[in-house]
Amino acid sequence: MDGRDLVRSVKAVGSWGAVRGLRTVRAAWRRRRADAAGLPRRGAERARVPGALQEVRPEPGGGVVRFARSELRITVAVNGAVFWGWDGAGPQPSYALAGHGPEPDRRVVLEPDKDGGWRVVAKRVTVAVSRQGAIEVRTPGGVTLRRDLPPRWWEPVGGGAARWMQRSEVAPDARFFGLGGRSAGPRLTEGSYRLWNTDPGRPFVPGDDPLYLTMPVQLVVADAGTHLVFHDTPWDGTVTLREGEEGAGSGHDRAGSCELRMDGGPLRCWVMVGTPARVLRVWASLTGAPALPPAWALGHHHARWGFDSEAEVRRIVAGYRERGLPLDAVHLDIDHYDGHRVFTVDRDRFPNLPVLAEELRRDGIRLVSIVDPAVKAEPGDPVYDSGAAEDAFVRDASGRVVQGVVWPGESVYPDFTHARVRRWWGGHYEERLAQGFAGFWHDMNEPVSFTAFGENTLPRSARHALEGHGGDHREAHNVYALCMARAAYESLRVLAPQERPFLFSRSGWAGMQRYGGTWSGDVATGWPGLRASLSLVMGLGLCGVPYSGPDVGGFDGSPSPELYLRWFQLGSYLPLFRTHASLRAGRREPWEFGDEVLAHAREALMRRRRLLPYFVTLSYVARRTGAPYVRPLWWDTPGDRTLRDCGDAFLLGEGLLVAPVLEPGATRRTVPLPRGRWYDTVTEEVFQGPGRVVVDAPLSRIPVLARAGVVLPVQGADGGLELEAWAPAPGRSGGGVVARDAGDGWAEPEVERYVSRWEDHGVVVRWDGDEDRGEPAHPVRVRGLGQR
Ligand code: NOJ
Repeated sequence: MDGRDLVRSVKAVGSWGAVRGLRTVRAAWRRRRADAAGLPRRGAERARVPGALQEVRPEPGGGVVRFARSELRITVAVNGAVFWGWDGAGPQPSYALAGHGPEPDRRVVLEPDKDGGWRVVAKRVTVAVSRQGAIEVRTPGGVTLRRDLPPRWWEPVGGGAARWMQRSEVAPDARFFGLGGRSAGPRLTEGSYRLWNTDPGRPFVPGDDPLYLTMPVQLVVADAGTHLVFHDTPWDGTVTLREGEEGAGSGHDRAGSCELRMDGGPLRCWVMVGTPARVLRVWASLTGAPALPPAWALGHHHARWGFDSEAEVRRIVAGYRERGLPLDAVHLDIDHYDGHRVFTVDRDRFPNLPVLAEELRRDGIRLVSIVDPAVKAEPGDPVYDSGAAEDAFVRDASGRVVQGVVWPGESVYPDFTHARVRRWWGGHYEERLAQGFAGFWHDMNEPVSFTAFGENTLPRSARHALEGHGGDHREAHNVYALCMARAAYESLRVLAPQERPFLFSRSGWAGMQRYGGTWSGDVATGWPGLRASLSLVMGLGLCGVPYSGPDVGGFDGSPSPELYLRWFQLGSYLPLFRTHASLRAGRREPWEFGDEVLAHAREALMRRRRLLPYFVTLSYVARRTGAPYVRPLWWDTPGDRTLRDCGDAFLLGEGLLVAPVLEPGATRRTVPLPRGRWYDTVTEEVFQGPGRVVVDAPLSRIPVLARAGVVLPVQGADGGLELEAWAPAPGRSGGGVVARDAGDGWAEPEVERYVSRWEDHGVVVRWDGDEDRGEPAHPVRVRGLGQR
């Protein structure tokens, strides 16, 4: 640590006060010392490119192309996904793939291409390799979707991980999405995006980057087609994007570009092409179907850092009940821990959690527990002692257990990249279940160690098992939370086999949807934060993580009543609908913002309750098809360029279009409409797409439009299922799916399909494909009839 660092750290300590005190200076210092001793010095490097193509060897699904200084394997899988890996890299081992990965498609042909290159021809895609190692992904019609230039490696002369760089070009009209949870999206315009899961250490606003959950997953949408590209390496990296430009008149086009620079790891990637729906379906088949949340998790959750006693929890729950506000889950933050130690309960303030949990459950409310990965480094603490006996904690290169600083003070970190450690850790959820918790909220798992300056995570030199092959934190960092989620999920399946696990995690990586969802982290209270929180949900959905939502109201400070209400209204249409805030923030209960807000928040809660069967259906659709509940407006019409640029409205499943209010004072807003007829779900006013329309957005509600013809499953006033059918446009028909949840267990849902159409006497709804089956199983309410 030099003098400047010291001044910086003292300043930081001065402002952070007791929690982060001098321990954080020591932690930072330790981290640096460990890295200086434990990481190889980079020293001189040698640059390498593949060189000239030398020979080609066919293999099932594709083949191997040998260059002077590298080798490229290309395989098309049976699900249509294309894999390629340089320097002999294969698809495994991988933290992202579910199981062993798909089989190769044996129908694929490897044949010569122009100019001495070769190409792999599959049903839906052609991959051409040039003599110098450029790779083109083409549609069956021959249009290029992506062109990767020959990669470049920099290898340390003294040995060690090679850095590499991959530059790619996409169509001039292409738009980039994804890369995990990004505050400046969902459309990722020009800029650099880092691939290193990071707690920003303060509430974030649009443009703060990186955040908690990064992924090397890009979804690229262009007129010629949509593709998803995933670089399967968890190392630190940076993606620099530049949108292209189409030359006006006789001007030249400029291609869009993407430059990926990685600090290490194999250069290998997967590419999927097709419609957005198809691409996400293939992605889910590769990385795993999204976990199905229990139905209660699709209701309203209330959390707060600062529920400091059972009495306080009861007071909040009573507040909801007395005001007739639906509530489905209460989350307990670290304040219920004893001394902030994970898997403990402060018995003075929470003397009988199992009884509280049981009482709440009788009212249909579940308790959710925060779980932080760091374990207080204190002999005598049972979690610490059992972990030490199990040799569960991350060590540095010299063999010493790495210590960081988190809420409980000096702490140690389980190495979740070891199956034995995952089993040990997962066993502790038994204690949580015994306390009555029904769900789990993983936090601080980037993982965080507070430091007075520099990176607030583990030293890069910290050692990890990495499933037996061994490595350091440079490789393990981005998958740390993914492995923690796996530990919890796999253990819960054993500990509570009758119930679907519910967990969501602040950090994660590609494939995390197999275990659960996420939330937007500590978003700054303010209108920009509201916008950023929607960006994260949409971006994550396009990376295959369909279940997420923001801290309604923002994490810090006190939102104005209007901001709180607009956030609440948006949250009520997102998969995870949760009010939450920091210890130091103002209250977030709906009755804290005056009677008008309370009345409108009640309406939002009631609408959410009514839509619960639709959310349940969307959760099954996500599981079966990988399609997120929250979809960009271009989902069905990616060729519509106006929609491609819209990030402030979304489709909720097939049937609804939600246009949240993201600006103060607005009571109307513009919405770019996908094609077809749409109804305002409150006024039944008709709008015709495509085009831009102005819709009313009074303080009482945000605009929600229904697609003409859609049949939505909703909860009727008596609690039973109803079908809400929106009249098809004249001469048209429509329909909808209903997946009826069979409880919180594993039983398959009953899936019903309906069609809607005009007949002589009006709009009718019938069983799809089974006209003789009689009337639908549920009462039908047709809406939008006044508007023929
Ligand atoms: C950080 C999390 O993002 C936040 O949601 C939580 O309240 C605090 N940690 C305290 O546990």
